[in-house]
Amino acid sequence: MAVTKMDDYKTESNLYDQFRPSYPPELVNKIVSLVSEEKRHWAIDVGCGTGLLTRQLAPHFGHVMGVDSSGKQLEVANKSAQQSAIKNIVFEKAGATDLGQLMTKHSIKPQQVSLVTVGEAFHWFDTDHFMNQIVGTFLKGTSLVLIGYPRPFVLSPKCMDDKDFTQKLCNQEIITQPVTQLHGQIDDLIDRFYRKMGLYAGFDWSILESEYRCYEKDFEAKFSHFSSQRMVQIIPVSLYGFYLNTQTSSAYNRYCIAEKEKRGDTFSDKLFDLIRDIMKLIGQDLSVHSITSRQFEKVDVKKLESVSFYIYYKLFAYYLTV
Ligand SMILES: C[S@@+](CC[C@H](N)C(=O)[O-])C[C@H]1O[C@@H](n2cnc3c(N)ncnc32)[C@H](O)[C@@H]1O
Repeated sequence: MAVTKMDDYKTESNLYDQFRPSYPPELVNKIVSLVSEEKRHWAIDVGCGTGLLTRQLAPHFGHVMGVDSSGKQLEVANKSAQQSAIKNIVFEKAGATDLGQLMTKHSIKPQQVSLVTVGEAFHWFDTDHFMNQIVGTFLKGTSLVLIGYPRPFVLSPKCMDDKDFTQKLCNQEIITQPVTQLHGQIDDLIDRFYRKMGLYAGFDWSILESEYRCYEKDFEAKFSHFSSQRMVQIIPVSLYGFYLNTQTSSAYNRYCIAEKEKRGDTFSDKLFDLIRDIMKLIGQDLSVHSITSRQFEKVDVKKLESVSFYIYYKLFAYYLTV
């Protein structure tokens, strides 16, 4: 099987499994509800990483297969599934376009697969090849769900009181509007950080920012019985959670490596700089202001836990019926 992708997760897989938030239960329930109960034989989670979503799907399906090209991610995935005593998951090291071969290997018939999910990974794939495989392999009625997180943002908590807020965000009716000057300044800092980090993402970051809308025409042409829907969920994450979560990103790790190569001893960790700048703006003194990034790991970074400032992730899910 063609596993050509470089293993970007050699070092971060344990961090990844610990610090990436699980997918919200509302989303998992919605995904599961796309498939009627009697058809829940097999689900395939492609680009499964450490198996976060794979594990969440497992209680709802007879069997779940997690597929990933990274051996390191799968090592953690297997360990976590064992620790959770989940018996109905099989993980396979393979490329996203190897599903046909994997199904043959496990004697899975196309009619047994009613759900294919891709969490935060579709933008890595050879998308044309992947979509042709989906159309060519699965039966009409199979659901494909593509999930992603564009860059997080800062929001006045008041927005969360607006009942229609997430629906408006889903329809892209409003662009995220930080309400106060402070929120605007912090949002700008995050934006600047993501623009720089996005250069090291290894894919065109605007694809994720478009919530995969850039593919829509192509999908409409490919799926003869095309039907699609979208869901958006806003997930508040503390500054500490944001710090941990960002560390799991392969783009962030490449950004650090590039900065180290460029600046040698004068290297500073841009995530640390961002956290420090946000702390300054919100007037929190955790005595990390004056230290350098190299000292950062030595201070009790957990002190960030007490900071009640939230950053919001907008998780989108794009559902298609083959
Ligand atoms: C950001 S992680 C997402 C992991 C997991 N789905 C989640 O939601 O936490 C992206 C994953 O896609 C995998 N990946 C990237 N390109 C792939 C490909 N062509 N075939 C299979 N897996 C791939 C990477 O190894 C990585 O584990």
